Amino acid sequence: MQLLRGQAAGSSRPRLAVGTLLDLYGEDFDPREGRWHYALSKDADRFDPMQEHRHHWERQQLPADIARHVNLLLQADALVLHFPFWWLSAPAILKGWMDRVFVYGGLYKSGMRHENGAMRGKRALLVATAGSSMQACAPDGRDGDMRLMLWPLMNALHYIGFDVLELYLTHGVRGGLAADTAKQQDDRLAQQVLKYQAKLAHWEEWPSVPFNRNEDFTDGKTLLEDP
Ligand SMILES: Cc1cc2nc3c(=O)[nH]c(=O)nc-3n(C[C@H](O)[C@H](O)[C@H](O)COP(=O)(O)O)c2cc1C
Repeated sequence: MQLLRGQAAGSSRPRLAVGTLLDLYGEDFDPREGRWHYALSKDADRFDPMQEHRHHWERQQLPADIARHVNLLLQADALVLHFPFWWLSAPAILKGWMDRVFVYGGLYKSGMRHENGAMRGKRALLVATAGSSMQACAPDGRDGDMRLMLWPLMNALHYIGFDVLELYLTHGVRGGLAADTAKQQDDRLAQQVLKYQAKLAHWEEWPSVPFNRNEDFTDGKTLLEDP
């Protein structure tokens, strides 16, 4: 994943600045939430992750890796998550990163969610590769609508306040190809990378995913008839 910072001098348009690259596999990030991460156990009898999050956040005693990731998120203007599509979702390490880094009490709590979330004013983008074709991943495709399947991630990012941009997907990326076909794929992907870089240079123009605001829901948390 990439955390981007920076505002062009004298301009209200966010520019793409050199970002911080986080490689979850590279740093051997532990995606398992568990009591062993917490130095000051709030409840030794029962491990309650949300209570431990809040307890450790309030005492500034988050696990070191989580404190580092949280600080990077708080300083960033944008978050780009790069991942391969695995079993109709993101790899488990990314879900585990969300479980542990989206700290309850710190990045979200009652009254600090959605448009009032800690990440408000920041943008998040999912960039994924898939083995299947664009047609197979379309709403009427054999493999199902990829945007719908990645909706839980987009919704979670919005939950902590991000302005979520429309997905950037690259299809038909596969290994084990014969030499000629592999070469064709490499050439196609090299073009895709240029296309992606060109698009990323104008990331401020990317469309956001429309979300309803809290005021659009009833007290029972269902959508008003005429929001
Ligand atoms: C565990 C696993 C599950 C996968 N599941 C899917 C899937 O559900 N849909 C799909 O289109 N491709 C799937 N693929 C293919 C990957 O998306 C594809 O290999 C990857 O995007 C290629 O990028 P990479 O070279 O960076 O790994 C899967 C691959 C693996 C290893």
